[in-house]
Amino acid sequence: MMGGKYGLSSSLSNLPAKHRLKILDACAGAAVASIGHGDQRVVAAVTKQMTQLSYHHTSRLTNRAAEALAHKLVGHRPGGLSHAVFLSSGSEANESAIKLARQYWVEVGEPERVHIISRNGSYHGNSIGCVSLTGIPNRRKHFLPLLMPHTSQISPCYSYRYQKEGESDAEYAERCAAELEQEILRVGEGKVAAFYAETIVGASAGNIVPVPGYFEAIRRVCDKYGVLLVLDEVMCGMGRTGKMHCWEWEGVTPDIQTIGKGLNGGYQALSAVLISEKVIAVLRNGSGSFTNGQTFQSHPSAAAAGLAVQTIFESDNVIENCAKRGKEVRPPSYSTY
Ligand SMILES: Cc1ncc(COP(=O)(O)O)c(C=O)c1O
Repeated sequence: MMGGKYGLSSSLSNLPAKHRLKILDACAGAAVASIGHGDQRVVAAVTKQMTQLSYHHTSRLTNRAAEALAHKLVGHRPGGLSHAVFLSSGSEANESAIKLARQYWVEVGEPERVHIISRNGSYHGNSIGCVSLTGIPNRRKHFLPLLMPHTSQISPCYSYRYQKEGESDAEYAERCAAELEQEILRVGEGKVAAFYAETIVGASAGNIVPVPGYFEAIRRVCDKYGVLLVLDEVMCGMGRTGKMHCWEWEGVTPDIQTIGKGLNGGYQALSAVLISEKVIAVLRNGSGSFTNGQTFQSHPSAAAAGLAVQTIFESDNVIENCAKRGKEVRPPSYSTY
């Protein structure tokens, strides 16, 4: 996680210095403040953007700030991800990703694929669609009658609790993937649109790292049944594990990915859906657009903040620093992450 020189010290109140309380914002708020507070380079970039184009609706035209950020994030096509949609929160990104997975199958010509499988113990956001995928009973209980009907949850890959005595990592990964396969077959072949997972589970349990080979095994099952793999990296992505994308650790790439939080370090409200060329190609050859839109999407000053923060990631070696500092706090049993 972000730390070291990027941790924040601040003083509270107007008390004399000797009475002031120093707080180290080591968890960066809700895992957001990825470069610390008050960086003048971001302030300057956002101010400049606001004096040039403070708001713009992208129903007809795009804007340069959003294009520049998209170029930065997916211009080099990481893992085949080639396009970005910018929203204002992780929940909105996941809501859009749910819709995208659905639209993909409609355009492919398999509209009966409506079901989404996610995992117990995962958090995907605040909106009804996101709560439908979230596997935390407390977050669901009041809203159960409102939730999307075509969803179900399988076990997480949580070796501390669920890996059996004497079971190897490879065997445990295969057992988890077999559960996904059983669930796909229970719902019905050709009925499942997507499998949805946090690459590292964050908010609900705190840094649950899958065993090596887990996502490889999951990807194999997804491919066998044509199910899209959606990775929610709203919390674990954007450099927090010492690589830009958490999936880079295993090299298993998603069809759709969501990001937020550390993307622009909280200087503005910003999140994104990153979309693979495979999914884009279907939309391009079909209706030609993603049926999704809201007033503040691709907001220019949020995008300008995002670009400034991403540039600082590079110039200040933020992600390398995470990798280095992460090793200092990593439990010895986490062999690959
Ligand atoms: C993995 C994950 N997905 C989605 C969200 C929702 O993001 P937001 O609170 O920005 O809507 C969160 C927030 O904690 C999260 O941790």
